[in-house]
Amino acid sequence: MAACARELIAGSGLPLLEARMLLERALGASRTWLIAHDDEALPDAQVAVFQDWAARRRRGEPMAYLLGEREFMGHLFHVSPAVLIPRPETELLVETALAHVRDIPAPRVLDLGTGSGAIAVSIALARPDARVDATDLSPQALEVAGDNARRLGAVVALHEGDWYGALNGGAAAPIYDVIVSNPPYIAAGDPHLSQGDLRHEPGMALTDRSDGLEALRAIVRGAPAWLKPGGALWMEHGWDQAGRVRDLLRAAGFGGATSRRDLAGIERISGGSL
Ligand SMILES: C[S@@+](CC[C@H](N)C(=O)[O-])C[C@H]1O[C@@H](n2cnc3c(N)ncnc32)[C@H](O)[C@@H]1O
Repeated sequence: MAACARELIAGSGLPLLEARMLLERALGASRTWLIAHDDEALPDAQVAVFQDWAARRRRGEPMAYLLGEREFMGHLFHVSPAVLIPRPETELLVETALAHVRDIPAPRVLDLGTGSGAIAVSIALARPDARVDATDLSPQALEVAGDNARRLGAVVALHEGDWYGALNGGAAAPIYDVIVSNPPYIAAGDPHLSQGDLRHEPGMALTDRSDGLEALRAIVRGAPAWLKPGGALWMEHGWDQAGRVRDLLRAAGFGGATSRRDLAGIERISGGSL
């Protein structure tokens, strides 16, 4: 007998909201339609798609990868397993960078390790006069970022390569008003890497395969050569790394190295100005 929405959702073994979201997507239907037609027989092909997604979700695949999208800064970003799923706490990095360039006309902005492009595209949409460069070592990630920039109507120049090596043939020039980055900062062997969503996200987006500070060190070390006088560097980092990142910033000549807390009260980003 053909299945209806009520039975499929109840038998999915998933939280109600997740089951509804997957069924809506499988059917191409709205929440209102689903609720109004919850005892109607559904087409076998769409039921099969839903059953497949529900089984994958039960095995732990992130909702964002199954749906292929995640909201960030009020924009819907496409995501694939080639990119980190944008996190709400990273919005603090975008807001901080935007605050730094508020009074700078046509600011130049660099996002290192752009992934889905969430940070770079959000900044470019908030400041259409800005010139935004974004880099990543992963060509697959840059494809996703490029797709998001086009779809959302943002102008972002994408560069493939190792941190600053992606830019200008590696020849440094003090051109940026602000540099932002949410680099991989989980230490090799951290048990979180084998838990939850992180099991499905790209390893190179999560861990530096070292002590967790390797990418942050490279970004801080290279920044002074690329920042204008008065330019700022802001980076996201792990919950217990703020003190060490402030030390790195001071050692590289950044004044007023400081950290900002996320909504959970955790020191989530650190930065300073030249
Ligand atoms: C934590 S993810 C951040 C993605 C995105 N900016 C965000 O906040 O959602 C880190 C990104 O850095 C990139 N990455 C890792 N090592 C890199 C390197 N050596 N040079 C440039 N990008 C790198 C990864 O491919 C990944 O896209």
